[in-house]
Amino acid sequence: MGYFITFEGGEGTGKTTIIEQVKNYLLNLGYEVIVTREPGGIEISEQIRDIILDVKNVKMDYRTEALLYAASRVQHLAEKVIPALEQGKVVLCDRYLDSSLVYQGIARGLGIDKVLNINMFALDHMPDLTLFISARPEICFERLKKSNRTMDRLDLEKKEFHEMVYDGYKQISKMYPERITTIDGEQAVEKVISDALDAIKKLVDKR
Ligand code: TYD
Repeated sequence: MGYFITFEGGEGTGKTTIIEQVKNYLLNLGYEVIVTREPGGIEISEQIRDIILDVKNVKMDYRTEALLYAASRVQHLAEKVIPALEQGKVVLCDRYLDSSLVYQGIARGLGIDKVLNINMFALDHMPDLTLFISARPEICFERLKKSNRTMDRLDLEKKEFHEMVYDGYKQISKMYPERITTIDGEQAVEKVISDALDAIKKLVDKR
């Protein structure tokens, strides 16, 4: 079995840059690596995602949204992640279960337990390691402004929503101290990357 590593954090925390660096680090060590995110090109998951994001679906209940995220996730897991792990590859996944616990469970107010339960009905595989890139929303927004990245619907949510996401991740990290490593995302980018690589090194050195 390969390694399943997930990356979590709010908008603009720098997940994409970190994933790229982790990928290069592992490739240099001789691992086969795939980078993915839900729906990850899986046809069924893409179709589910289209329903979630369709602007026509203004009536969508938050519970429906949570169930659809879970459905999309399990299909991506079964069709893409597990087969890659069975081939001994390292799978780097941008967002996974913790995104639902934080966004649907905490920020949307459905409750962590409920969201965890519907996900655990379907998910039979947890990450070997999750890196939570921790940075306060105001810092992330300054960065996004500087990089001129276009803002999507969720980026434009109210400030309080992003604060809830930030606090939510801290809460979830305390629930899973074995699995989740918090990386201080407010440091200089070189230091963020070296901390992330240290956590990866610790994982691969264990086996
Ligand atoms: P996107 O801008 O594509 O991602 P990122 O911020 O990682 O660059 O948007 C993904 C959005 O979907 C993000 O705001 C979080 C949200 N989301 C959930 O609400 N629940 C989930 O289970 C997942 C996977 C994502």
